[in-house]
Amino acid sequence: MSARIDPPIAMLAELTHRCPLACPYCSNPRELLAKSAELSTDVWKGVFSQAAALGVLQLHLSGGEPASRSDLTELVAAANEAGLYTNLITSGIGLNPKRLRALEDAGLDHVQLSLQGVTTAMADRIGGYKGGFDRKMHVAEVIREIGFPLTLNAVMHRENLDDLPATIEMAQRLGARRIEIACVQFQGWALTNRAALQPTRAQVDRAKQVVAEAIPTLRGELVIDFVPPDYFSDFPKACMNGWGTTGVNVAPDGTVLPCHAAATIPKLRFERVPEKRLSDIWYHSEAFNAYRGTDWMPPLCQTCDRRDIDFGGCRCQAFAVLGDANAPDPVCVKSAGRAVLDDLVEAEAQRVEAPAFVYRR
Ligand code: FES
Repeated sequence: MSARIDPPIAMLAELTHRCPLACPYCSNPRELLAKSAELSTDVWKGVFSQAAALGVLQLHLSGGEPASRSDLTELVAAANEAGLYTNLITSGIGLNPKRLRALEDAGLDHVQLSLQGVTTAMADRIGGYKGGFDRKMHVAEVIREIGFPLTLNAVMHRENLDDLPATIEMAQRLGARRIEIACVQFQGWALTNRAALQPTRAQVDRAKQVVAEAIPTLRGELVIDFVPPDYFSDFPKACMNGWGTTGVNVAPDGTVLPCHAAATIPKLRFERVPEKRLSDIWYHSEAFNAYRGTDWMPPLCQTCDRRDIDFGGCRCQAFAVLGDANAPDPVCVKSAGRAVLDDLVEAEAQRVEAPAFVYRR
């Protein structure tokens, strides 16, 4: 069955790959784009106008660290003028009171602050940046003073999953309205550190319990979004809510992608703005149409009663684990690929001592 193509709701604009941090779970590609490859201010502004015309409502400004772009305020103002709801996804490094006030004046709607750990020692070690935690806490204070709606984003893994209760407490302390507790997803650089980051089953079970208890307790005060580690799930996640249905990503050099990791699938060819119009790419490009609807699905997914729940799962994960982007997501217990994933989890999660992190630099 061919899918009806609706316009995207959200755009993730990866303004830059530059970042002062070096998190071992970074989902950006192993090979990062240099500053010289980034779209210019004017081109980004044009992309935002095109996005709004296409039907995009929410713009997530990301990176790398988007504050590494000196034109960030100008870009936010342009997005605001185009009528887009703007969310800044940041580590906080590179922001200061003056810059945050300028972003407020430019119309920034929301801030999503990443959290590497709840102590200086842990956060600075995970982020690979000495002094980063203190600077982040200072930025969080200013965000609170200004009154930006704040979401805290905590990527959880073997090293920090036991700190989950303290992580939730920190979100409350910082005045966040929402916390995203995202168990590490293995894409990009994170694959290099998979064995070091892989939580144990006991940690995962405990985390689920902590979240289940915290959600009703904090209702009305803090919204908790929990992304469980899908290697430990029985069924795949509905990645991107289905390929090419809801969201579009633009890489720092203008490459337009159906998801964050799509460029890892070698057989797909991607197009770029501004050479090609965003709407043409969204509706007509081969890459966006590759996994839309259900025609592409293997028989197992075609006939599955979860077909319209998880849409066949994550294509990038099928490629990363099985080397075949058309295969059922190996997380699915009904799939042959699950045995491969089980062996991998068994080998990695059960280690008494995890290997050391490999940092980008
Ligand atoms: Fe690409 Fe899931 S990350 S489809």
